[in-house]
Amino acid sequence: MKTLIACYSFTGNTLTVAKELEKQINADFTRIEPIKERWYVIKAVHAYLEKKVPIKDCETDISDYDCLIVCGPIWAGRAPSGILEYLSKVQNTAGKKCAALVTMGGNGNEIATEQIKTALEEVGMQFIGKLKLGKNELKSGSWKDMLEEFSELFQ
Ligand SMILES: Cc1cc2nc3c(=O)[nH]c(=O)nc-3n(C[C@H](O)[C@H](O)[C@H](O)COP(=O)(O)O)c2cc1C
Repeated sequence: MKTLIACYSFTGNTLTVAKELEKQINADFTRIEPIKERWYVIKAVHAYLEKKVPIKDCETDISDYDCLIVCGPIWAGRAPSGILEYLSKVQNTAGKKCAALVTMGGNGNEIATEQIKTALEEVGMQFIGKLKLGKNELKSGSWKDMLEEFSELFQ
């Protein structure tokens, strides 16, 4: 399956995992990067309020792909503002598959992955799976086995 990974990462956790996924499934990769990074509290408040922020140019046209995987951290229980902006910009999505990969400091909840799922389903995509990795999995390295299982969805 020809897959595009779209990844936002502020402190590098999601980037490490998403880069490993890129290798495992031989995907293309695009970085989601806000034009301006804000202070911690502002980031959390913006995410909580589901505010979008401008992002740098990246691959938003997925006409050449069968599948899109959106990756990022969880902020204030939600998807970061740069990811929300990316989701509003993706084009040529109808009939394509999609998935979400999130990393977090705690155990997390379903809101962030639901935000990604809902936004992509609204533009005609089929959501095929999600992977949520918490601090324990990231620290212990057990994320690697979980990632291998997740990557089978995209073979
Ligand atoms: C502004 C901000 C808010 C955060 N809010 C949460 C949260 O609500 N729940 C959680 O489990 N982790 C939270 N975290 C921790 C990150 O989700 C976690 O460290 C993640 O792995 C970071 O990914 P990154 O290194 O790719 O940016 C927050 C981090 C930041 C910077």
